[in-house]
Amino acid sequence: MQRLASSRRLLQAALAPRRVNSSLSAAAAVAAPETENACAPKMPHFDYTPPPYDGPRAKEIFRKRTEFLSPSLFHFYDRPLNIVDGKMQYLFDEDGRRYLDAFGGIATVCCGHCHPDIVEAIVNQAKRIQHSTVLYLNHAIADFAEALASKMPGDLKVVFFTNSGTEANELALMIARLYTGSHDIISLRNGYHGNAAGTMGATAQSNWKFNIVQTGVHHALNPDPYRGAFGSDGEKYARDIQEIIEFGTTGRVGGFISEAIQGVGGIVELAPGYLPAAYNMVRKAGGLCIADEVQAGVARTGSHFWGFEAHGVIPDIVTMAKGIGNGIPIGAVVTTPEIAQVLTRRSYFNTFGGNPVSTAGGHAVLKVLEKEKLQENAFFVGSYLKERLNLLKEKHDIIGDVRGRGFLLGVELVTDRQAKTPAKAEISHVMNHMKEMGVLVGKGGFYGNVFRITPPLCFTKEDSDFFVEVMDIALSKL
Ligand SMILES: Cc1ncc(COP(=O)(O)O)c(C=O)c1O
Repeated sequence: MQRLASSRRLLQAALAPRRVNSSLSAAAAVAAPETENACAPKMPHFDYTPPPYDGPRAKEIFRKRTEFLSPSLFHFYDRPLNIVDGKMQYLFDEDGRRYLDAFGGIATVCCGHCHPDIVEAIVNQAKRIQHSTVLYLNHAIADFAEALASKMPGDLKVVFFTNSGTEANELALMIARLYTGSHDIISLRNGYHGNAAGTMGATAQSNWKFNIVQTGVHHALNPDPYRGAFGSDGEKYARDIQEIIEFGTTGRVGGFISEAIQGVGGIVELAPGYLPAAYNMVRKAGGLCIADEVQAGVARTGSHFWGFEAHGVIPDIVTMAKGIGNGIPIGAVVTTPEIAQVLTRRSYFNTFGGNPVSTAGGHAVLKVLEKEKLQENAFFVGSYLKERLNLLKEKHDIIGDVRGRGFLLGVELVTDRQAKTPAKAEISHVMNHMKEMGVLVGKGGFYGNVFRITPPLCFTKEDSDFFVEVMDIALSKL
């Protein structure tokens, strides 16, 4: 994989004004209603007006949702938003009000909402054949698998398609256990890998764990440079892996799973040097190394196509979802031909995994990423945005940490920089104010006090300036 040059000069060049969404420039240019807040900074111009919406209003939808949907569903904002349209890095509510989307459907919409090329690929495929079965041949699944394999290092070239990240990780954990004959898996504290029986075991945050049987997973010290005991010394954290192997298992393990940057966990970058040391120890104990690229993969980190590449490691299994479909439900597990053989021991089947519509959409995503140089954009504009957020940190004491790469950025709010006391209530106020000024952003982390900035990768420098101005005003109101 080609590593992108990170010189100051290149960054400056990228910060020069660039044309916004050329593929949309011919769209109608009638201004949509903008922000609710008159003193808000002006949102960058965007030539698109969504069609009129005459469907049910937020209040009615919320009533139905409360009555007919799971009580476990939660929502952002004091007044929940009814989002009815999306175009590239913008979303529109029931009144046609435009919002800058800095959350990207939770790091999922990578090429932009309703990207015309991806919509076209999906519609064309749906018109031709929407679903048959993988027991027949169809070129969509084979073409996408080939394209995906070409983005992988080493011998990682066999693809299994699933419908979600959870399913992909369930399958990866099973493959590792079958291949090694060992049940024990090591995952990182604060990691999130899904919510089915196996993946909930690997997920290591109490708020995402239900009281059901979750066997065979050991949770290692998190190499968290901001809150961890060893700062940025990755190798010191990795010693815990060796201790788990020696004191918590037979001495042999099935595998190790981790994100390169923890997403749900609050955009925590693993301390440098951690992954190479951890992979080494796990492999010596017979285990396979699984990279969960559900959030950090597919060009989002900018410097690399896959998050693990920034750590100089090559995993044995890579899992992905979210960005790979730009919103179409799809996940994938990629491994080596040798490891993939374990699934021939029994029948393995997934009705929708590799469905023609989702794989046609996924293939279109890869083409758009390349055509529009979105990885480069994530790198240059993401670096610029991070620089501006760091400047904001100098102004607002409540910002304890700014971290992440490309368009996988986190801003942690704390009421006391020394004690790192999570600013839980404050972050909700800031989010509500930002929404009023036309910016949608995510939040997460174990304490729920970290802004998660994961926009579509077509986010521009002007969008970044607007985002920072809005965040600045919202923080000043605290
Ligand atoms: C790193 C990571 N892995 C796995 C998952 C689970 O993916 P899904 O929600 O598609 O099942 C998520 C979801 O947020 C995730 O962030």
